[in-house]
Amino acid sequence: MPTTAHDISSLKPDSPAFIALQKHHAATTKQTLRDLFSADSQRFTTFSIEAAGLFLDYAKNTLTTDTMSLLYDLARERKVEQRREAMFIGEKINTTEQRAVLHTALRAPWPPVGAPLVIDGQDVNADVHAVLEQVAKFTEAVRSESWRGYNGKPITDIVNIGIGGSDLGPKMVCQALRPFQHARLTMHFVSNVDGHDLDAVLSQVNPASTLFVIASKTFTTMETMMNAHSARTWFLQHADGAQESDLAHHFVAVSTNTEGVKAFGIDPQNMFPFWDWVGGRYSVWASIGLSVALAIGFTQFTEFLAGAHAMDTHFRTAPLAQNMPVILALVGIWQRNFCGSASLSIAPYHQDLGNFPSYLQQLEMESNGKRVAIDGSPVEIKTCPVIWGNVGTNGQHAYFQLLHQGTDITPVDFIAALTASHHLPGHQAALLANCFAQSEAFMRGKTPDEVRAEMQSKGLSEAEIDALLPHRTFPGNRPSNTILMEKLTPASLGSLIALYEHKVFVQGVIWGINSFDQWGVELGKVLATHIRDELIGQPSPDQHDSSTNGLIARARAAL
Ligand code: F6P
Repeated sequence: MPTTAHDISSLKPDSPAFIALQKHHAATTKQTLRDLFSADSQRFTTFSIEAAGLFLDYAKNTLTTDTMSLLYDLARERKVEQRREAMFIGEKINTTEQRAVLHTALRAPWPPVGAPLVIDGQDVNADVHAVLEQVAKFTEAVRSESWRGYNGKPITDIVNIGIGGSDLGPKMVCQALRPFQHARLTMHFVSNVDGHDLDAVLSQVNPASTLFVIASKTFTTMETMMNAHSARTWFLQHADGAQESDLAHHFVAVSTNTEGVKAFGIDPQNMFPFWDWVGGRYSVWASIGLSVALAIGFTQFTEFLAGAHAMDTHFRTAPLAQNMPVILALVGIWQRNFCGSASLSIAPYHQDLGNFPSYLQQLEMESNGKRVAIDGSPVEIKTCPVIWGNVGTNGQHAYFQLLHQGTDITPVDFIAALTASHHLPGHQAALLANCFAQSEAFMRGKTPDEVRAEMQSKGLSEAEIDALLPHRTFPGNRPSNTILMEKLTPASLGSLIALYEHKVFVQGVIWGINSFDQWGVELGKVLATHIRDELIGQPSPDQHDSSTNGLIARARAAL
């Protein structure tokens, strides 16, 4: 049975499952990863799982089968299975905004299997299908050159203007699926209100062959609206002889706000709608994925959706102990709430996944960066860790030093594809070797005895060895997960993103927080609007502290 969101309170440190895990942690804290691997030759088999085209190895975490069963007890105590079902059937689990959370419906097969999903009297599957058809038609028209610019030129450049979920998803996916992209089309992404961002793109494109996709769920976001207006002005100034009516060939919108789109001057026929039950950071599956569909074509876009759906089906149906998103989430809970890790580093060993860490930053930190539970009570335990990272092998030559020998223990998620999308000999083996070597090094470390023996074999004196020994010793026992896929394709990428979405969901349920609102972003937005007025109009020093007033004064003098 699904649960109603209202009966969810925060996870309390005195919950029986939490206490059992604390005791277990205290009793096993001396266990090292080296010991665990030496004691059990089957460890890799026991602590790995395959689902929806992905393979997860979580053996390099300081946990045992006892740890996992206590974590499953915690998941059961927190009603993860019931809450999971509540999400899939469209209960309004986003209680602070009274919204259902149905990104899974965006990738459900058509025609729908089973009973229709009806939210507020609307058939969700039918709505999704209708918009997908609109996306299919439009992308086909642009890609086949039947949609052209105002003076008959085919579209060569697509500029997605959006921010947050209206940027990070399509940007990350377009980069990841670069080998699948249409040869004629160049994709650009503008998000920052800093004019350098838009300026850099406008300086590369020809207005006559450029299509702007204005992507904003609300169509009120300051950054996106300012960039959209500047792009519109630029177009009218730079497209020879273009009239206002020509804008229709070059500006389309993706939004839930029809009135806002009309007010901007985009014909609602050129608007691709979506719905308030799609969170911004979950919207790449909705029409916010328009830029993706333009880049890779609608057929491959449906493969991307199907990959996510395969992970949805696995997540919804697999028992907790055989459920990849649940396991990934619980391992994260173990690291965060019992082993005390404050951050999680994401290391994709695939250059095309370069934007994946920033995408996950929004997905995880905007979703679970909360200090109050669904029932309004303050949480009493740590919630979302800081998410950060970069592609391997680049990160190895920047911050991996800290991961190996720093004072904090930071778990790492390694992500790699076994097969490359290029044909350059030798690179893929070198890349994977580095990926596996890093996780092995984090796990094993290098003991003082090993370091001493190595230096002795190189003929160093005992005095030199004593001086260098502490610096060259690696503590090891540093946890990591490794996620493998056969190849980075639309389907495997869809599955990977859905894996993390569901991981975030499970962790939110365990912590008892609402993963689907983002009130924390509001305060800065409101203050920025006031300060912008003061920078270009009258200052109001009585509204601010001396630091903010000082900064405003310096900027006013320069602007
Ligand atoms: O940063 C807050 C936020 O509301 C995100 O959740 C969202 O993805 C982003 O702003 C952009 O919002 P919109 O799509 O409405 O422009």
